[in-house]
Amino acid sequence: MKKLMDEITEAVMEAFQKQGYDPKYGKVTLSNRPDLCEFQCNGAMAAAKEYKCAPFLISDTVANVLKEHPLFSMAESVKPGFLNLKLQEERVAEYLEKMAEDDGRFGCEKTKEPKTIMIDYGGPNVAKPLHVGHLRSAIIGESVKRIGSFLGHRMIGDVHLGDWGLQMGLIITELKEREPGLLYFQEGYEGEYPKEAPFTISQLEEIYPAASARSKEDAAYKEAAMQATYELQQGRRGYQALLAHILNVSVTDLKRNYENLDVSFELWKGESDAQPFIPAMVEEMKAGGFAYLSEGALVVDVKEETDTKEIPPCMILKSDGASLYNTTDLATIVWRMKDYHPDEIIYVVDKRQELYFTQVFRCARKTGLVGEDTKLTFLGFGTMNGKDGKPFKTREGGVMRLQYLLESINQEMYKKISENHTVEEEDGKRTAKIVALSAVKYGDLSNQASKDYIFDIDRFTSFEGNTGPYILYTIVRMKSILAKYYGEKQLPQGAKILPARSESEKALMLLLARFNGAIENAYEETAPHKVCAYVYDLANAFNHFYHETKIMAEEDVMVQAGYIRLLTLAKGILEACIDMLGFSAPEKM
Ligand code: ARG
Repeated sequence: MKKLMDEITEAVMEAFQKQGYDPKYGKVTLSNRPDLCEFQCNGAMAAAKEYKCAPFLISDTVANVLKEHPLFSMAESVKPGFLNLKLQEERVAEYLEKMAEDDGRFGCEKTKEPKTIMIDYGGPNVAKPLHVGHLRSAIIGESVKRIGSFLGHRMIGDVHLGDWGLQMGLIITELKEREPGLLYFQEGYEGEYPKEAPFTISQLEEIYPAASARSKEDAAYKEAAMQATYELQQGRRGYQALLAHILNVSVTDLKRNYENLDVSFELWKGESDAQPFIPAMVEEMKAGGFAYLSEGALVVDVKEETDTKEIPPCMILKSDGASLYNTTDLATIVWRMKDYHPDEIIYVVDKRQELYFTQVFRCARKTGLVGEDTKLTFLGFGTMNGKDGKPFKTREGGVMRLQYLLESINQEMYKKISENHTVEEEDGKRTAKIVALSAVKYGDLSNQASKDYIFDIDRFTSFEGNTGPYILYTIVRMKSILAKYYGEKQLPQGAKILPARSESEKALMLLLARFNGAIENAYEETAPHKVCAYVYDLANAFNHFYHETKIMAEEDVMVQAGYIRLLTLAKGILEACIDMLGFSAPEKM
């Protein structure tokens, strides 16, 4: 469906043209004085300069045309030259009725030019537990992906596991210390390796930090770990087999964690999957004259003349020939282009990696890994801080594991819910989990991604204010009104959304009509926080309308049925929005 805003703008442009002015001056915006009007156009102010006359003269003649237009109930020219507009109630109702009939899409069309967009998010590191630092990437990436899918794009999420660094060598070294007799360490062994991993996830989670701590104190140990990493990367059989076990055990655990977050990935590729593409890539970079040796390391210059700060060269191989994080990211681009030829790759990563991605992107373009028609986007997010304004930590000052964080919020939520009314324990726990997830996700997504924010459990779990639980509470309220209505009667023949009968109803209707525009805008700006802002306005508008309107006590059957259809539309839109944010609403709360 055409956006209501576009319909309005077209009408105003036509009016400008009709009176002999350039239609470009007819741009309409939402009113910043809702007490005076719903929409406004300030074009006459600018047009006055071109036509060398008083702006009021222009706004006045344009208003005269618009007064006759069926879209407007009010078109007023105000000094010095503003156009204040209000929409005809009937037209808004008709528009909403069409939205309501547009099943599941509510007037928001799928794009006519679907793009293939890969989205690199999550980025957990194998064998290390997920911590809160990975939370933001998962939450934001999932939402960006769902917004794109809703608009009809082919979104491919790739978790991009960190499975190729020193951490692998550390684990292997520690295992070797503990169980030197394992087959994996036997040199020259050529037989099969066991199918079962020689460790469980909890052992793995203990092995890695132990190894990491020891390597910081024991230089020989660290040396051994680096050697093991090197041998693994060179393809040593026993180590490769161990890597496969580590991956298996880890990924199973990670999947469970992401499932709890309602986050899922189309691809479970890791840094190690990029390795086979490195040698040819490096050769081409050399042959093309891009890569050269600098102090033994192979680098590609990526600085540009217009740079205002120093952008160091992108390092491709270390002097010992080992590959780096960069190398892996570049080689990952190689297979992504080969297998999917995406129109865009979006990286949802901590904004502290921005300079790094500038280097990687420039290097990829310069060396021809990606062409003009593939966009590379860095969506950097800020830090999640504790109430003290410092990066979120456990009470003991350690890194908070994601699982514990979520569990504590689930408990908090359960306490709140069971305080409010009596619930069966199992029911209550299930509801608490749904509401808690909304608290965490909305608390994150409602901030612009690039900003740091304070993780404030008390505020996030509140049923009032700009929070996930408040949005869910609003939806649950809608569900209960509908259940009550349909428990007693059915919609009468010919029921439809009727022209607004009050200011609060009109305000709600105008907000609903903005759905398609809000989602398109959030997609274009890769900005889930715009969906949150829309959802919050909508929930407020609905609650305002609800407090002023007697829905169940309304005696006019058709008026009541109109309310019910309006409410159904509002509920559908809120549900579509929270689905794009990555959470859902319970039946009761
Ligand atoms: N594993 C990395 C980390 O924990 C994040 C990976 C981000 N994605 C990428 N393509 N480099 O910091």
